[in-house]
Amino acid sequence: MKTFLIAALSADGFIAKDSGHLADWTSKEDKKFFLEITKKVGVIIMGQNTYETIGKPLPDRLNIVYSYDKKYEGVEVTQKNPKELLEDLEKRGYREVVIGGGSQIYTMFMEKGLVDTLYLSVEPVIFGKGLTLFNKELDIKLELEKELKLGEKTILLEYTVIH
Ligand SMILES: NC(=O)c1ccc[n+]([C@@H]2O[C@H](COP(=O)([O-])OP(=O)(O)OC[C@H]3O[C@@H](n4cnc5c(N)ncnc54)[C@H](OP(=O)(O)O)[C@@H]3O)[C@@H](O)[C@H]2O)c1
Repeated sequence: MKTFLIAALSADGFIAKDSGHLADWTSKEDKKFFLEITKKVGVIIMGQNTYETIGKPLPDRLNIVYSYDKKYEGVEVTQKNPKELLEDLEKRGYREVVIGGGSQIYTMFMEKGLVDTLYLSVEPVIFGKGLTLFNKELDIKLELEKELKLGEKTILLEYTVIH
């Protein structure tokens, strides 16, 4: 199973101002990239806070939402440990998944060594404070594979995790 962690960052390194912040600050080029890769991969895994900011299932993709107690129409709610979830998806024929955030879910997969590639887009905004990509101390080395300009304002960085 190949896993892609996809996130948009402010220029000062935050993914959101707080847990309820909508992703209305990202560029149209970043939204297009997100749409294309999540549709190609076919599965997106996210946390309940992130799902609430979106408010409905992302169409034409399997939406998996981590929640302890919520139920939603059109998405699969899970509490499985990440490794078990990926094994389950593999048995169902999926070969790739997108880890779509937020901070809690990125951290949960990253700390277990279950992220292969990161796509980080950097947007020209500054939040000053907010949620970081990860919320725990980690010590992980990356290889920079590609840097790409997405439109006029946004940089996309592709990193491979050195396992
Ligand atoms: N910039 C970006 O690319 C990007 C991407 C994604 C999200 N975001 C932003 O990130 C923010 C949300 O991030 P967040 O860290 O606050 O929350 P999150 O990771 O989206 O969701 C956390 C929630 O997931 C559930 N959860 C976590 N671990 C679980 C487990 N092991 N089993 C079952 N449920 C579990 C819990 O929900 P319950 O306790 O309610 O059940 C928990 O409160 C939002 O502002 C969103 O817009 C930004």
